[in-house]
Order: sequence, then structure tokens, then C-alpha cells
Amino acid sequence: MNQPTTTPARPGIDVQRCAALLERERAAFVRRNPRSQAIAAQASEHLMFGVPLHWMNDWGTPFALQVAHAQGATLTDADGHLLADFCLGDTGAMYGHAPAPVVDALARQAARGFTAMLPGEDAAAVGALLSARFGLPSWQFALSATDANRFVLRWLRAASGRRKIIVFNGCYHGTVDDVYVDLVDGIPSQRDSLLGQVHDLRLHTVVVEFNDLGALEAALAAGDVACVLAEPALTNIGMVLPDAGYWEAAQALIRRAGAALVFDETHTISAGPGGYGRAHGLVADALVIGKPVGGGLACAAYGFSAEWAARAVAAKRAAPPGHSGIGTTLSGNLLAMAAMRATLTTLMTAAVYAPMLAQATRLADGLRGVIAAHRLPWCVTQLGARTEFQFRATPPRNGSQAGAALDADLEHLIHLALLNRCVLITPFHNMMLVCPATAAGDVDRLLGALDEVLGEISDG
Ligand SMILES: Cc1ncc(COP(=O)(O)O)c(C=O)c1O
Repeated sequence: MNQPTTTPARPGIDVQRCAALLERERAAFVRRNPRSQAIAAQASEHLMFGVPLHWMNDWGTPFALQVAHAQGATLTDADGHLLADFCLGDTGAMYGHAPAPVVDALARQAARGFTAMLPGEDAAAVGALLSARFGLPSWQFALSATDANRFVLRWLRAASGRRKIIVFNGCYHGTVDDVYVDLVDGIPSQRDSLLGQVHDLRLHTVVVEFNDLGALEAALAAGDVACVLAEPALTNIGMVLPDAGYWEAAQALIRRAGAALVFDETHTISAGPGGYGRAHGLVADALVIGKPVGGGLACAAYGFSAEWAARAVAAKRAAPPGHSGIGTTLSGNLLAMAAMRATLTTLMTAAVYAPMLAQATRLADGLRGVIAAHRLPWCVTQLGARTEFQFRATPPRNGSQAGAALDADLEHLIHLALLNRCVLITPFHNMMLVCPATAAGDVDRLLGALDEVLGEISDG
């Protein structure tokens, strides 16, 4: 979700043609979407920024596209266009919109109560499923991946008696304040865009580059770090894959320093039903999974190893009675548990992933072909069901390199032109997700539309 601060040079792209195309595409969007425009105008009367969440304007369209309904890999907008959806709610709908097993489970549970601040039978079953899936024995729940990350940091700080955390440059773990520290020209800097933040986040957050074992070792050296919070592969500043052997070596350093390794698998669950870790034989000390874990219903889970769970429990027992600062009233509610149970048993399975990953590979290969045909110096990275093209010739190795390749204006132009051709991709960088319902025809439509758009703007 990070945005670049400067516009990079655009080798292979004709800037004049981009400007002309942008004007045409904006006009086409307005022409194509009168009903969306009318609803957006109505919404602007009582919704701040005209949308339920101000980020919904980050698509950069002249007004927000309004959704009529969404099913499988298809989103139908208010004007009746059927869009091949490769955004999939930025991973929330990674198992498809309104997947039938989750719809059924929700309907069953909804008639029997939503929330009671007490557990039902599904809770024990979900705990066991998560434990088997991710290899960690002890679990708790939250309403979002953001909250799950926030709570994990609290538990691990309490359990370790240490205040500092380490994150990777260019990371995103939701709106957890602690993680908004970047390296700007090598200097740790609090993100300027934060609103209403009054604490100096740099006091307790250390930021290092991904794939740099020396920097990680140095950051751990003082023995004051509670945990390293990481996506196993960066996905939010453009994709950055770990070097071969990186995590094995990093995990050894983290263990030696008495800190915990937390894998935030919220996006990297695209790698397989047990996330990137399981797909690569790694088990972290703690794990966070949000977004699609309830089939898109708002919920998240986090788990600990036996050792860290015991230390967290001991910290709670040793604390004075009163608020822990961890949890929200609706966390782990009955409806969310039903959704997670259905998702874990019917969607997060090897059988569902196999065709989905094959389709994503077809997409990644197709993207390489289209980019090569237009002789653009761009690379394509795939992590299971997640694929991304980046405006640089070789895959980036860290957040600085990935961030330097971002180009918000060019991304926006491409996304808008695709949208006008009935293809939806995320508004942030160039990420595409394939869900179990994504058909070969959806992939072909995306590739055809991109080919047409690049034909308009490349200078080849
Ligand atoms: C890796 C990662 N963790 C956590 C989050 C936060 O998820 P949510 O916004 O659902 O809280 C995100 C959101 O993009 C994410 O990419």
C-alpha cells in the first residue's frame, strides 16, 4: 500500500501518449458509469470523502465505482458491467466472492446468534484446524489482521519483557502504528502520511532492509528486541521474495537473540493452504492470518509456539487484574468462527489451491509474454495465487528497490484503462490475485486488455 514519493523515469513508455490516454480513459469511465456516478453523488452528502472508508478513493477514478454484487471471480458494478476481478477485495475474497460453503455456514449460524462473548463448538474446532494447518499449538482471534498484529506485538512484548520490535523497510501490517517506520536514504523515519500520531515510533521500532542478514544481526545485537514482525515475502511495496536460505539463517539469528519471529501470512497465504512458511518448511514462533481466513468475513487469527504461548500466559497471570489492552468485544464471535471453520475445511485446502496456482502461473507466463511483446523492461513475480508486474527489469531484493520502481501515475493509468475494459486489479502497485473461480477466459481478458493498453503507451 506504500506510495512512491517521486516519479521515476519510464523507459519504454511514451509520456505524451500516457497523458492523452489518461484523458480518454477518464472520460470513458464517466460515460460508462452513470449509475455509479449518481450513487456516489448521493453518498457524498453524508459520507466523509463520499465513501465508507477514505482509501476507497485510492482507485483514483473520477468517482467511486459502486458494487451491485460479487460472486466467484466476477464483480458486477452498479451499471451492470461484469468485471473479471483480480483485486478480490485486496485478498479478503481470495477464495472467491461469496463462496458457497461460507455462505451456507453463515446462514446456519446467523439464525442461531452472531455474538455472545462466549465460545461455541466451532471455536475448539477452529483452534485445532489452525494448529494442524500452521504447526503452532495455541491460538487467539481478532476482527482484522491489523488487530491481530497489534495484539501479537503486545503479547510478545509482555512475554519477553522487551520493548523493541524489528520490521522490514517497506512493510505493511495494517494500521498498527508501531510498524510505520521506513528507511529514507538509510535513516529510520516515521511515515509522514500518518494522521494524528503523537508518539515517536522510532524509539521502539527498528527498521532494516529485507534480505540483509548483516543488518538483521546488528539490529538484534543489543538483546532488547521482543520480536521480528515480517511478511515472509514482502507484498505491499511490490513483491519482494526472500533469497534462498534467507529465512533459515534469519530465524537462527532471531532465536539466538532470544527474540520471536512472527510471520504475518495475511497476503502470503497465496503461497499455499499453510502459507509461505508451510510451503517452505518454516515454522515461525507466531503467525498472523487475516483477510481470507473467514472467506472475506471480518475476522483474523494469531497463533504462538508452545514456548511463547506459555510465556504470554505467564505474563497475563503475573499482571495486576484489569484491562490487558488486548482484544475487542466482538473478537472470536460465533459468526466469525463459523466462517473460519467453513473456510479452513473447504477452501484452504490443497485440492482448492492446485488449480488456482496453475491458473496464476498461466497468468504470470502470459504477463511475461505481453511485456516482452512491447519490449518493456519490466519483471513479473509470482507467489502462488499472487502475481505482480513491476517497473524494473529484475526482481527487487528489498523494500528500497521495490519502492523506487513504484510509479503511482503510471499504475493508475493502467488500472483505469483495464477497468474500462472490464478487468479489476488492486489500486496499489500492480498486484493480481487468482481465486478458485478464476477461469482461463478471465486471464485471457486481462492479458488482452493489458496488451491493448501497453500498445497505446509503449514507445516501441
Ligand atoms: C501483510 C498484511 N498484514 C495485515 C494487513 C491488514 O489487514 P486488515 O486491513 O484487514 O486489518 C494487511 C493489509 O493489506 C497486509 O497486507
